[in-house]
Formats: sequence, structure tokens, C-alpha cells
Amino acid sequence: MTDRQLAELALDARKNAYTPYSNFNVGAALLCADGTVFTGCNVENAAYGSTICAERVALVKAISEGQRSFTAIAIAGSGDDFCWPCGSCRQMLCEFAPDLRVLAVRQDGQFEISTLDTLLPHAFGPAALE
Ligand code: THU
Repeated sequence: MTDRQLAELALDARKNAYTPYSNFNVGAALLCADGTVFTGCNVENAAYGSTICAERVALVKAISEGQRSFTAIAIAGSGDDFCWPCGSCRQMLCEFAPDLRVLAVRQDGQFEISTLDTLLPHAFGPAALE
């Protein structure tokens, strides 16, 4: 799975987004260590706070299928800018993959790459509870 392919999967995953309130469609594609990819889209709710982001949908799909190890995630929004994950998604991803590669994808297919430890420095993680 190349970065370009993962970015394309994230762009494609936006098509199922349920966004009657923001009209901002997001798609995510999460690459597991075994090569499997789980995609997700944002799902909004009339009780706005119950909305779930695309990244967390992809993550919980993967976790619920037994995956625990991840190497990269691509995130594509519907704006003209690169779509970086929100704070809640950074925190959730950090639980399982603190050094995850993160690809922020723009509508035109261009992407920038960072890592979760850069995006969430001094993270609170499982080690803090040992
Ligand atoms: N959203 C995501 O899906 N991922 C993010 O990282 C940021 C925000 C969604 C949530 C909501 O449905 C819409 O984008 C506007 O905030």
C-alpha cells in the first residue's frame, strides 16, 4: 500500500459521510501493520456532540475486528486545505499508535505527511496509568 493509494482511499471514503449539519465530508483510511486497511467517514447527529469523526470511525472499526497495530492514516476533507485530525482523534489514535504516520490529504489529491508524536506532543497515554 503506497501513500498515494492510502490517500486515494481516504478521498473515496468521504462519499458515505453523513453531514447534514456541516456539509464538511471527511474520509479516513487507516493502514494496519498486517496491510489491512479500514476506512471511515464522519457521521453527524442532531445532538451535535454525538457526531463522530472519520478517523475514529476507521479506528473503532479496526479495533472491533481485532486489529491493534497501525502504521499510517490518511485523512481527506472537503475543504481546499490539508485536513489534519482533531484533538480527540489524535488522542484516540495515540492509544494504539503513538508514532503513527499521518497523511493530511487535500481535495486535489496533494498530501502532507507528519507523525502523531509531532501532532500530539507530551501525550497522555497508557504508560501514565502503569
Ligand atoms: N471531522 C472529522 O471527521 N475529522 C476531524 O479530524 C475533524 C472534523 C468532522 C466532524 C464534523 O462532522 C465535521 O468534520 C465538521 O467539524
